[in-house]
Amino acid sequence: MLVLAALLATTGTAAADERIVGGERASIEASPWVVYLVDDRGTQFCGGTIVAPQKVLTAAHCAEGRSLREVQVVAGREDKQDRQAGVVATVTDIWIHKRYVSADQGEDVAVLTLRRALPYTPLPLAELTDQALYEPGSQLRAYGWGRTSENGKTSRYLMGATVPVLADDFCVQTYPHFKKADMFCAGYEGGKIDTCQGDSGGPVVVDGKLVGVTSWGEGCARRNKPGVYVRISRYAKDLHPVVDATPPGVVEP
Ligand code: ARG
Repeated sequence: MLVLAALLATTGTAAADERIVGGERASIEASPWVVYLVDDRGTQFCGGTIVAPQKVLTAAHCAEGRSLREVQVVAGREDKQDRQAGVVATVTDIWIHKRYVSADQGEDVAVLTLRRALPYTPLPLAELTDQALYEPGSQLRAYGWGRTSENGKTSRYLMGATVPVLADDFCVQTYPHFKKADMFCAGYEGGKIDTCQGDSGGPVVVDGKLVGVTSWGEGCARRNKPGVYVRISRYAKDLHPVVDATPPGVVEP
């Protein structure tokens, strides 16, 4: 009985404190471009961003090794259990950066082409000229349905967290193979607020632009182990031809 009470007490607190890790609920109306990816059993495994009506940007490690029927995009749905909300879109093509090897080696970007155009506003990419957005201390918003604690379950609801960009020197110190040209790290030296497993591929946003994609990190929200994100400005040149391409089936005059 005591044990049960203690158990209830702990789960009670956990439910109250746990979000992304250390974040809070976010609304899909305010961030209509954030999507999640489901496998062929309908299980959410990654995040993504609508960057054109028929294109979703995600992490290469989310798309790698999956056939087209093993990835679907769920858009416009804040609560994973709300089957009525939003749309489930079929993927007709998966583009993975040609130099991608593994998340921690960089080039962790992929673009999914959808069968139909989505009725949600796309988010523009950060461009090479947007370097100011990556200054240390710049406050970014990360979104996802990933785990709410390092070994916990993924979130039922969309979560958001604010994380400041950290100095590249700090990222290199804590992660010796960190590549500052291709990545940035964000979070707090003390940990506590971070993205986590299941958030990968999802957006990191500031000033109405997609500056990052959740990529990797050691554990979640650990002291001195911030999240590492794809430096989108660096890939704008590689991504534009794919993102701006007219998908097959659309006939232009
Ligand atoms: N690789 C993870 C995923 O596939 C994301 C990890 C982010 N880790 C972190 N500590 N921020 O979902």
